[in-house]
Parts: sequence; C-alpha cells; structure tokens
Amino acid sequence: MKPTKLFHHAPATQRNREPILKVLQTCLPNPARVLEVASGTGEHAVYLSSNLPQVIHWQPTDIDPTAISSIEAWRQSEQHPKLLPAQHLDVTAPVDIALDYYNALLAINMIHISLGPLPKLMQLAKKLLDDKGILYLYGPFWQADVTPAESNLAFDMSLRQRNALWGIRDLEEVTQLAKTHGLIQQAIITMPANNLSVVYRKE
Ligand SMILES: C[S@@+](CC[C@H](N)C(=O)[O-])C[C@H]1O[C@@H](n2cnc3c(N)ncnc32)[C@H](O)[C@@H]1O
Repeated sequence: MKPTKLFHHAPATQRNREPILKVLQTCLPNPARVLEVASGTGEHAVYLSSNLPQVIHWQPTDIDPTAISSIEAWRQSEQHPKLLPAQHLDVTAPVDIALDYYNALLAINMIHISLGPLPKLMQLAKKLLDDKGILYLYGPFWQADVTPAESNLAFDMSLRQRNALWGIRDLEEVTQLAKTHGLIQQAIITMPANNLSVVYRKE
C-alpha cells in the first residue's frame, strides 16, 4: 500500500522538470553518477533519473526529514531502479557520503534559500567532480546585463522577508566563487519563468 501521507508535491516541479531534463540530456556526463542536494519532495529525482539513459545511479538527499520521507514515498511508489534510497545531507556540514562515486552534483532551487550552502556546495563540487563531471545549478539569478524580472524582484523580497540571509544570488559572484574552487562556467541556459540553468566544470 502506498504511504500516501508522506508524499509531498511541489507544483513547480511539474512545470520545470521537462526544461531541466532537456538541459541535462546535453550536459550530464555519460555515464552519469548523480548526487542531488536539496532534493525537496523527490519529484525531480524520480522523473529525471527515469528519463536520462546516461544516468547509472541518482542519489537524492536533503537536510529535512520530511523531504527524505517524501523522496522515499515517491521512490517506492514505482520501479525506479536507478534511484538510490534518500539520504540526509546538510550541505553546510561535513558530508559522510562516499564522494568518489559521483561525477555530477545538482542543486535545483537551492542556493537562494540560504547563504551558508553556496561556499560549501562549491567545496563539495571541487572534491567530487572529475574531468568530465559537472556542477549544475538551477534557479533565479541576477545578471549584470539583464533587467530583473518583476516576478524575481517579488520573489527575492519574499525570501528576504522570511530570512535576511536568503535571496536571489548574483550570477557573477557565484561564478567567481566557483572559480576560486577550480570550477569554470561552461554554460548559462535561459529557462522558463525567469530561471537559469548554470553548468560548471573543473578547470
Ligand atoms: C526550494 S526547495 C527546492 C527543492 C527541490 N530541489 C525543488 O526544486 O523542488 C529547497 C530545499 O533545500 C533544502 N535545504 C535547505 N538548506 C539545506 C542544506 N543546508 N543542505 C541541504 N539541503 C538544504 C530544503 O530542505 C529544501 O528541500
């Protein structure tokens, strides 16, 4: 019987999963061994791991026990042979997952949630990625030469009202931080609803 009460649903995942899939089809290494941080409900993990043939294994993780339960509910709802059991991972804390195993690190809609994770995420990418590996970020960013969308300005304000350390990040600052961790920006892809996909590789 399905543990229905554990399922959580983030409506945005239904809208952005297809555009994200299209980007990952072109930029994930082949074969790909994916470590996803901040997996949230687990809906991306289920959909993307099932629809990317180059993925061997996909490890969903989150800091939040409710998210872990939801990921597990989705994972167990159908056959998802590539999807590993959800694990607790706090990006800001020492990570006790065997990192040698992964060559792609994904953070979807995460870096605007708190300030701490971004440098730690870069440290994690530096440790984890091989020559062909990628760090993939998805979400809203400020870009120097792009007028901010009204929806992003409103979203940023709502984030900052919830927590002064939250907010949309400046892409140039993120890329500069990546550079200090030996990562270069490989691609910026414009996504629906004023979001970006940003791909970094080892220098
Ligand atoms: C806006 S949700 C995005 C979830 C999912 N990636 C999506 O796009 O639907 C942000 C997620 O970041 C997780 N999170 C926040 N701080 C974290 C941290 N320090 N380490 C790992 N995950 C964290 C939250 O628990 C939450 O699931």
